[in-house]
Amino acid sequence: MVFTNEVNAALSGFIGEMAPSGTFVVADNNTARLVLPRLDALRALPAVTIPAGDDHKTLATLESVWQAMQRAGVTRRWLVVNVGGGMVTDLGGMAAATFKRGVPCVNVPTTLLGAVDAAVGGKTAVNFGGLKNEVGVFAMPAEVIISTRFFDTLPTTELRSGFAEMLKHALLDSPAATDALLDYSIEDINATPSFGRGLVDDLLPLLEQSVRLKQRIVEQDPTEQGLRRVLNLGHTVGHALESHALASGHPVPHGYAVAWGLVAELVISHIRQNGLDSALLHRFATRVRQLYGAPRVTCDDYPTLLSLMHHDKKSEAGEINCTLLGAPCSPMPGCHVSDDEVSAALDITRDLLGV
Ligand SMILES: NC(=O)c1ccc[n+]([C@@H]2O[C@H](COP(=O)([O-])OP(=O)(O)OC[C@H]3O[C@@H](n4cnc5c(N)ncnc54)[C@H](O)[C@@H]3O)[C@@H](O)[C@H]2O)c1
Ligand SMILES: [Zn+2]
Repeated sequence: MVFTNEVNAALSGFIGEMAPSGTFVVADNNTARLVLPRLDALRALPAVTIPAGDDHKTLATLESVWQAMQRAGVTRRWLVVNVGGGMVTDLGGMAAATFKRGVPCVNVPTTLLGAVDAAVGGKTAVNFGGLKNEVGVFAMPAEVIISTRFFDTLPTTELRSGFAEMLKHALLDSPAATDALLDYSIEDINATPSFGRGLVDDLLPLLEQSVRLKQRIVEQDPTEQGLRRVLNLGHTVGHALESHALASGHPVPHGYAVAWGLVAELVISHIRQNGLDSALLHRFATRVRQLYGAPRVTCDDYPTLLSLMHHDKKSEAGEINCTLLGAPCSPMPGCHVSDDEVSAALDITRDLLGV
């Protein structure tokens, strides 16, 4: 992993060192327009542009990438460079891992979510049969070049959504890491050009700390046998809120639901007297309210939310299963929580978020 805002130099350096027979670029129509023109290191190389968005993370798009690779004459001695958010690194990573039984690839994430989550860890996939990430392989990229420079064209909702996964990593890391993020003004990155440039650069070390935390966990449990489940913090309640919002016709970005889920799961941790500091909980909830507002949920929605949590793919034997936090920020994966605990936590979360 390389963390740098000199992406051209990093890419040229890596390609020069690896000396592949050729380099093939995968981008989507947004990153082809907004990011590729900024990457001289990839100019005039064979490339494929795929349609943007998760609806296109399909076998049909994967097939179109394989076809483009075949037309370009890609072999196992080539290098594939994926330039995009999680959709591009997931699909391009799978195309590289499967074409000719595997061509090395480099990920250049261009969204905050992609940088902090999707581009590292080696999970690749496409959606299939109506299910997300149903078909895929574990395949580590040869390199990931992480920069914050491309975030200046991201919509604010995308920035905030990715930032929620950084907040999750910080909570799993330490109170100091959490404090540093709570003080950072993610909402201002694309506010004014000069101010924004400072914030873009300031984000890089925070992002590095965040990604390294994920990397440490993934290295200890690459195929998700146990420890990697701590990365599910905030997601048991978060996924339920996300599905409920979608079903009620008011979809919310994934990270917004995760941020609310983090508050709820911190509340459960606190109620259980795991030692989670109440000052940290209140500071965290206040920042979440500023950045993400509150979920549209009333007590009448609790049975639906609980049912969604019981059926979460990470729950075991129908029990609601969460990662909880002890002090200071020590994660405990696989904790069973009762319906009553979740309902009480939802009440308190709604209070904290000002519903
Ligand atoms: N492999 C993993 O471990 C993992 C982890 C989390 C998420 N994911 C996957 O990642 C995907 C979500 O990631 P995402 O939010 O990055 O999605 P995305 O790649 O669809 O990007 C979101 C939108 O932003 C646009 N975009 C990308 N870079 C931009 C830039 N610099 N400026 C302006 N617009 C830009 C994209 O074209 C797209 O329209 C999902 O498919 C999810 O399943 C994978
Ligand atoms: Zn997530």
